[in-house]
Amino acid sequence: EYQALAEKSKSYLWNSFTQMQGYHEDQPIIIESGEGVKLRDVTGREFYDGVSSIWLNVHGHNVPELNQAITEQLGKIAHSTILGMANVPAIELAEQIARLTPDGLQKVFYSDSGATSVEIAIKMAFQYWQHRGKPEKQSFVTMNNAYHGDTIGAVSVGAIDLYHKAYSKLLFQSYRVEYPYCYRCPVGQELSSCAFACLQQVEHLLEEKGSEIAGFLIEPIVQGASGIITMPAGFLARLRELCTKHDVLMICDEVATGFGRTGKMFACEYDGVTPDIMCMGKGLTGGYLPVAATVTTDEVYDAFLGTYESKKTFFHGHSFAGNQLGCAVALENLKLFAERDLVNEVARKSAYLAERLQQFQELAHVGDIRQRGFMIGIELVRDKSTKEEYEWQEKIGLIVSRRACELGMIIRPLGNVVVFMPPLSSTEGELDAMIDILYQAVADITERGVQVRSET
Ligand code: LLP
Repeated sequence: EYQALAEKSKSYLWNSFTQMQGYHEDQPIIIESGEGVKLRDVTGREFYDGVSSIWLNVHGHNVPELNQAITEQLGKIAHSTILGMANVPAIELAEQIARLTPDGLQKVFYSDSGATSVEIAIKMAFQYWQHRGKPEKQSFVTMNNAYHGDTIGAVSVGAIDLYHKAYSKLLFQSYRVEYPYCYRCPVGQELSSCAFACLQQVEHLLEEKGSEIAGFLIEPIVQGASGIITMPAGFLARLRELCTKHDVLMICDEVATGFGRTGKMFACEYDGVTPDIMCMGKGLTGGYLPVAATVTTDEVYDAFLGTYESKKTFFHGHSFAGNQLGCAVALENLKLFAERDLVNEVARKSAYLAERLQQFQELAHVGDIRQRGFMIGIELVRDKSTKEEYEWQEKIGLIVSRRACELGMIIRPLGNVVVFMPPLSSTEGELDAMIDILYQAVADITERGVQVRSET
C-alpha cells in the first residue's frame, strides 16, 4: 500500500514549502489517521504531533466532541454564502470571538486562512484612511523577519529573505523595523541595560513618516516563523503607545499566537494591549477546518458605513467565508476551551515545560531556549560562547527533526531553530515523552554524531 501511494504522490502531489527534488528518496511519511496527540501513517507507525500540524492543533486529533459538531451541522447544511446574508453558526461564533478578544474588538470579518486574514487587515486599514479623509496614509510598517502568510499582500509585509526576496518586484514596499531579537540584539545592546534601544528606530520612523503610514503589522509577543523570537515584557505596550500617538492602526497578527498557544487566550493580553485590528486563524477551529477572522473595533467598522452610492462598502469576500461546518466546529472548540479551562492549563503546564527545558542548557550546542506557553524554539549554535551560527547549508535543524521523526515525533525546524509546538491538550506524561525525544534528537545529532538521511 505504501509503495503504491508513494508512487502516486510522486506523480501528482506538489507539497507546500518542500523541495521536491530528493523528497521521494526519503520515504516521506503518509498519514492515514490520528488520535489525541498522535498521528499514524499508512504503514502503522505512530508519531507524536510535535508541531501541532503546523501550530494549529488544540485538543488533539479525532476529538469526539469536535467530530460530532461537524456531523450535526452537516445534517443541516454544509455551506451557504455570507455575501449579503448570514447563517446561524457564523453569527454565534462572531459573538464568541468578540467576547474573547480584548475589550474594544467588536466586529468579525471571516475568511479562510491566516494569510487571507492579513490581506483583509491590510485592505481594511488602507481603505479606512480614505474614508477618514486621510488618503495619504498608504504605507505599512512591518518588522524584520516578519511572516504573515504567503499571498502577495502578506508577502509584501513579510520580511524573511529566504521566503520573500524572489517576489520583491511583485510586491508593495513596506517600512521595516527591528523585532527585539534579544539573543542577537539588532542594535548591539546588553539585555540588562537596553531600555528598548531598538524602539528608537520605530519612534523616528513614525515621527518622520507617520502621516503617510496606514498600519503597523506585528506578531505580538512571539515572532513565529523567524525562529520563535520572544518580545520582552512591556515592548508591545510601547508599540501600542507609539501607534496611538502617530495615528497608525496597530494590526496584531495572532494567527500563530492566538487561542491559548502562548498561555493566554491572545498574546496581546501579556501587555494588556488592544490592537485596532487582530488577525486569527489556525487554532480558531481547534485546527480542524480552515476558518480565519479579521477582528476590528467599531471605530474602524463605522468608517465604512454610508449609503450604497457612497461606495464605502468593504469590497472583499471569499466564497467560503463564514462556512457553517467551520464555524460550528470553532464554536465547539471554544466550548471545550471553557469546559477544560484550557488556557490556564496551558499556562500551568508551560511552567512545567520550562523546568524540563532547563535540561537542554547542558547541551554544548544549545545557544538559546525561547518559550511562551506551548510555543518553543531552541536555537542551535556551533559555538555557545561566541554564538557562532551553523551554516544554513548544514541543515542542522532539519537533521535534528529527521532524527526526532525516527524516534517517533514529527517536528519542523526553522533554520537552526528546533521548534516544539505540542498540541495544547498534551498531558504532562505526553509532554515528558515528547521532551525526551526532543532531547535525544538534539544530543544525537549535535554531540553523538548519529547519522540520518536528509535530502529535502
Ligand atoms: N501569520 C502568522 C503569524 C503565521 O505564523 C502564519 C502561518 C500565517 C500568518 C499564515 O497562516 P496560513 O495562511 O498558513 O493559514 N513556513 C514555515 C512555517 C510557517 C508557520 C505557519 N504560520 C515553515 O516552512 O515551517
